[in-house]
Amino acid sequence: MNLFAVKPLSRILAESEGEHALKRTLGPVQLVALGIGAIIGAGLFSLTGIAAANHAGPAVVLSFVLAAFACAFAGICYSEFSTMIPIAGSAYTYSYATMGELMAWIIGWDLVLEYAVGAATVAVSWSSYVASLCKDYGVILPARLMASPFQAITLDDGTQGYGLINLPAIFVVVVVSLLLMRGIQESARANSVIVVLKVSVVILFIFVGWAYINPANYVPFVPENTGTFGHFGWSGVVRAAGVVFFAFIGFDAVSTAAQETKNPQRNMPIGIIGSLVVCTLLYVLFSYVLTGMVNYKDLNNAAPVASAIDLTPYLWLKSVVKMAIIAGYTSVILVMLLGQSRVFYSMSRDGLLPKLFSDIHPKFRTPWRSNMLFMAFVGCFAAFTPIKIVGEMTSIGTLFAFVLVCIGIIVMRKTHPEIPRPFRTPLVPFLPIAGVIVNLMLMAGLGWENWARLFVWMALGMAVYFGYSRHHSRLNLPVERANK
Ligand code: ALA
Repeated sequence: MNLFAVKPLSRILAESEGEHALKRTLGPVQLVALGIGAIIGAGLFSLTGIAAANHAGPAVVLSFVLAAFACAFAGICYSEFSTMIPIAGSAYTYSYATMGELMAWIIGWDLVLEYAVGAATVAVSWSSYVASLCKDYGVILPARLMASPFQAITLDDGTQGYGLINLPAIFVVVVVSLLLMRGIQESARANSVIVVLKVSVVILFIFVGWAYINPANYVPFVPENTGTFGHFGWSGVVRAAGVVFFAFIGFDAVSTAAQETKNPQRNMPIGIIGSLVVCTLLYVLFSYVLTGMVNYKDLNNAAPVASAIDLTPYLWLKSVVKMAIIAGYTSVILVMLLGQSRVFYSMSRDGLLPKLFSDIHPKFRTPWRSNMLFMAFVGCFAAFTPIKIVGEMTSIGTLFAFVLVCIGIIVMRKTHPEIPRPFRTPLVPFLPIAGVIVNLMLMAGLGWENWARLFVWMALGMAVYFGYSRHHSRLNLPVERANK
């Protein structure tokens, strides 16, 4: 079997039609809302503080701008693909059409880091905000049941120690997974409500916080490097960009909805690029206000917004903001787990993964077995790994997917110049090459430990591919049989 055999575009389109075709209902506003629903979450509300305290100081604002560039290049390339191949499965499907089965497998396997591990990260932050909200109402949840065994914490008796298990994180993963198994008919509407709530809270925080900025907190704006790469200084800005990059993850989830979009040729680029632009503006302002209110040295916790509100007289705002953040995180987890099940669904339909990942529940019409497995996997990850590690694994995995998508655009222009491209990436090959360089730079900034984790995950993926997927691929079957 040829590892580099591509899946013909005509076949991809043929397989997506027929009785199981999804309904095209989403318009541009819903798409932008879907993007924002998946984008604004733990990256902004939790990692901004951690990135400022450990890597960039107030210059985390610049890290957001750098990360936005990396995403914009990839977002433009995603837009071209999503208008050319308006099919669910996103980057996995695009690679199958351009770079062959092995690359498609690599990207599909890699997307687990983005979606499943991403959901775990957000679940961990969800847990800290719930603990913090409960505390405001006098309910103290046992510290050891709210953190992983690798996380140093202050125990209930005030001594230092380590967590045991993160129970609230498991709770939210289970609830969201059950919801996904039950069906997601209402998800677009619920998502829109949560988006309005989330965006209002960010804007409110910017307006209220602006008056409490202490200009002394911006000095020095780029704290001096400590002698270690990535620990402040300009290398710290790059490293922090790799961390807060997490805050932008999700705009590509818009492309997984391509098959449910009206006039995808026009609406996909609006959804992808529009949600990116809105979030970039909000992020830059938000991080500027946060690091202006609280000194970056005091931001090393997963609920920095609460520390900032403590400096204002509007303490009532704290509960409102926290509730909105918790709702916002829930929608991110939902979209991530949804994206995960869709990618594995496509891979399973192609024979690269066992059939259970595309088994549809007879009544609820959802890939419930897949949801259940990811509930266990993501739940364990959220319960037992520290937030910093899961967050960075998500970022490196997503950056890697973006690199491959940018390369895919160049390959596709060479191999399929004739296909109509309703949205064309400008300045090919320069823009995709710039995308590859910036994304690789952010990957480099994440440090060798994350590269090692990515490598181990990919090696595991290779073992699965050569041990199973390669022998079960349906690429050479006729479309009718492959569709069975
Ligand atoms: N961008 C999403 C978040 O920050 C994953 O939570």
